Amino acid sequence: MPASLVVWILSALLIVGVLTQSWWEPRLEARGIPYRRWPWRWWLVGYPATALRIRSTWRRLAYLNGLSVSTSPDRRVIGRDLVVQGQALRPKPPRLSWPVPTNTGLTLRVLLHPGQTPAPYFAAVRAMEHAWRVHGVRVTSPRRGEVFIQVTALDPLTGEVPSARGPAHALLSADVGRIEDGEPWLIDLRRVPHWLVTGATQSGKSSLLAALVLALAPQPVALVGIDCKGGMELGLFGGRLSALAIDRKEAVGLLSRVVDEIRHRMSVCRAAGQRSIWDLPEDERPVPLVVIVDELAELYLTDGSRESKDEAEQCGTLLLRVAQLGAALGVHLVVAGQRVGSDIGPRVTALRAQLGGRVAHRAHDEASAEMTLGDINPDAVITAQNIAEDEQGVAVVAQGGRWTRARSRLVTTADAAQIGRTDPPANPFLTSPDPVTFEKGGMAA
Ligand SMILES: Nc1ncnc2c1ncn2[C@@H]1O[C@H](COP(=O)(O)OP(=O)(O)O)[C@@H](O)[C@H]1O
Ligand SMILES: [Mg+2]
Repeated sequence: MPASLVVWILSALLIVGVLTQSWWEPRLEARGIPYRRWPWRWWLVGYPATALRIRSTWRRLAYLNGLSVSTSPDRRVIGRDLVVQGQALRPKPPRLSWPVPTNTGLTLRVLLHPGQTPAPYFAAVRAMEHAWRVHGVRVTSPRRGEVFIQVTALDPLTGEVPSARGPAHALLSADVGRIEDGEPWLIDLRRVPHWLVTGATQSGKSSLLAALVLALAPQPVALVGIDCKGGMELGLFGGRLSALAIDRKEAVGLLSRVVDEIRHRMSVCRAAGQRSIWDLPEDERPVPLVVIVDELAELYLTDGSRESKDEAEQCGTLLLRVAQLGAALGVHLVVAGQRVGSDIGPRVTALRAQLGGRVAHRAHDEASAEMTLGDINPDAVITAQNIAEDEQGVAVVAQGGRWTRARSRLVTTADAAQIGRTDPPANPFLTSPDPVTFEKGGMAA
């Protein structure tokens, strides 16, 4: 069957689908199928047009980018020992599968010719984006002999991210926004225990921390804040935080308590003969503790006095200890700052090395993006540098060598205030069994 006929049949079926919408909508809804999230414009118009464009340009695109080969090269034998070999006149493009639509674009598979590697396909990504007029193309090779092409038609990260729907996520897994393929952006602290969030001023760091608090607030998780900008950002969450430090002196006190708590949890695990709190029976397990630090550099700023240097030194050591020891004991660290390099204070690079999850918002300079993502992937650094001024909340997220673009959900002040009126879990600190109460404008005692 010719390709265009298939497209027309599919389009006709979709039009019939739209016309009978009132019949099937309640039926799908009853079965829990999220039909409302289907972008009809893409399915009806965008997808058939893009699929046709891909099929009609594939031969030329493959030829111009060196993806085609000829099984019978144009060879002419002259005399007994001389063979002249030229470029094939009718090169054969690699076999392309039918484009399979997704909510945000489509996917394709290509069968490699024998002797080919995926490398020229990786190099042809930009050419594919232009030839097919799409927002992005990603090429991977999950199976030998095959290349998988993911096409994103329009940038799914434009516009605000709607509030989270659907079932609640697992403990310590927070839905903070949306990733590039339209799926929820999950920060899973069980999988990657500590996170680093960077970006220029007004790039969306504090908003991401707010989205994290919003997502973790319904869970039995104790949240502890360090916000040395006078508590302006994390202070909004008031009573939901188990403790809040709003200057460095308080931060030193709070971090010391967290380190004591870690030691205590260690002795609990040792006594029970377990290697982490997750191996303890559920009723004996301490409450997970998430330490959120906004504006890290404030903790390291010194005015030259001996006292401030000592405090900065202490903060560096305590944060590093929390990161090194906390993961198995249910103590997690999420740190936000403009740049996180050796120039801001002692032991910062050692701390960075412990923070396995990375989120890079728009940066002022290449070096800052490099500090966050350079040790993960050079392409991720370039993508982070391309985030525009008006794309607040858009970031490159990297964990375990993989990366993607994402956008956080914007939390309104009203939502924050509502969370602030909820109660934190009781007794998060085993070291101080009395309920920890929040005091406005200061650290809880
Ligand atoms: N995910 C987002 N979507 C839309 N706008 C955002 C988002 N995140 C941040 N913004 C906008 O950017 C502004 C600055 O964000 P903020 O988190 O305070 O930046 P930073 O802490 O990096 O200085 C916010 O006031 C908000 O208007
Ligand atoms: Mg901020």
